Amino acid sequence: MSTVNTEKLSSARFAEATDAFVEVYTASVDFDQRMAQQDIEGSLAHARMLQSIGILTEQELKDIQSGLAQIAEEIEQGKFQWSIQQEDVHMNIEARLTDLIGIAGKKLHTGRSRNDQVATDIRLYLRKEIDLILQQLQRLQTALLDLAEREADTIMPGFTHLQVAQPVTFGHHLMAWFEMLSRDRERLLDCVKRINIMPLGAAALAGTSYPIDRQMTAELLGFSRPSNNSLDSVSDRDFAIEFAACGSLIMMHLSRFSEELVLWASAQFDFIEMPDAFCTGSSIMPQKKNPDVPELVRGKSGRVSGHLISLLMLMKSQPLAYNKDNQEDKEPLFDTADTLLNSLRAFADMMPNIQSKKENMYQAAKKGFATATDLADYLVRKGIPFRDAHEVVGLAVRLGIESSRDLSEISLNELQQFSQQIEADVFDILSLEGSVAARKHIGGTAPDTVRKAVQTARKQMQLG
Ligand code: ARG
Repeated sequence: MSTVNTEKLSSARFAEATDAFVEVYTASVDFDQRMAQQDIEGSLAHARMLQSIGILTEQELKDIQSGLAQIAEEIEQGKFQWSIQQEDVHMNIEARLTDLIGIAGKKLHTGRSRNDQVATDIRLYLRKEIDLILQQLQRLQTALLDLAEREADTIMPGFTHLQVAQPVTFGHHLMAWFEMLSRDRERLLDCVKRINIMPLGAAALAGTSYPIDRQMTAELLGFSRPSNNSLDSVSDRDFAIEFAACGSLIMMHLSRFSEELVLWASAQFDFIEMPDAFCTGSSIMPQKKNPDVPELVRGKSGRVSGHLISLLMLMKSQPLAYNKDNQEDKEPLFDTADTLLNSLRAFADMMPNIQSKKENMYQAAKKGFATATDLADYLVRKGIPFRDAHEVVGLAVRLGIESSRDLSEISLNELQQFSQQIEADVFDILSLEGSVAARKHIGGTAPDTVRKAVQTARKQMQLG
């Protein structure tokens, strides 16, 4: 929490002090202090640039550097006195710098404004957060590849409409998850390209009359280049919206995975055993083992989509250039980053410890006439038009339902009453193993194809 400081920000123009409530209402320091490290980084680069063009002396630069180093330490150790009266992270740090080093501290803000400063800080902050998010994403992807390889031969029902459709391998199902995350990763990497452009130098909105070297500051801060237009630089938060959109998609995917895990862990499906460490019991029902982690991830996906909408709404009516509205971008952004990081981490930790219940999966696949399409394809190969084959199989399925048997359990004689084209070799394709093994084209569910897909994915991940 912040304390109240007696020195007020930029007060010379004002005859009256700020209303005490307004001071609190307009302050952002309680949350934007999270960007303190980036603010200091930005100031160090700005100061070096100012010195290089002769606006700061070498001594002033040194003073600023040592002052900022001390401030960084104070913040790290929790000793820094944050003040509501200094409004935000930027003013707090600058005021402390002036306390520490005097006049050189007051020169730091030459040729910049909080408007380009804050835009720079957010970009630096997001860049760092995305790095961490990508690391967790990669951990999760690697865990999925390991599990997919382990489960390449495990047969389970594939569903459409949540009805048993056709048999698939569990490895194939997991590789579907992997693919979703691969696109999420690409999206984040693409988003970083637009985040990594430097607004610093746009100053308040119109640039500055000092001969600043923006190329130099961009290089010092690791930005790919300075931004092209000063008005745009201080005003648009589209990069933040884009990040929230990437985040919403990731959370939407994790939420879908969660939903499946929750279903599979239920007594009705009983396809997997969730690791105890990721579940909790019930305070009243002693038998319960609740899949809390996936449930919570599913729940948290809502707030990230909410942040995306908040940011879109925040932006949509703002005239150029900077408006105070933009101060509202921080909390949704911080929470998006936190939620993503924690949810991905929870998933990456949990995934290697999920145990499949192979026999249950197999029996479930057997139950829903999952090889009916294989029988139709078999008849087509024997020269029957697909629509007629569809009809024949429909009759066979009806017999199966009436006599509580899977297609593979109906005798050849009985099957032949529906079509004379059916011969003894039909049983090869009516088995679940035969059905999945036959789907060996690129993107198919055959165990060997899944193993190949895992290998290809591993290579792609190594290439980055
Ligand atoms: N705390 C402000 C924000 O988050 C910093 C920029 C304020 N600029 C200004 N001219 N009031 O956007």
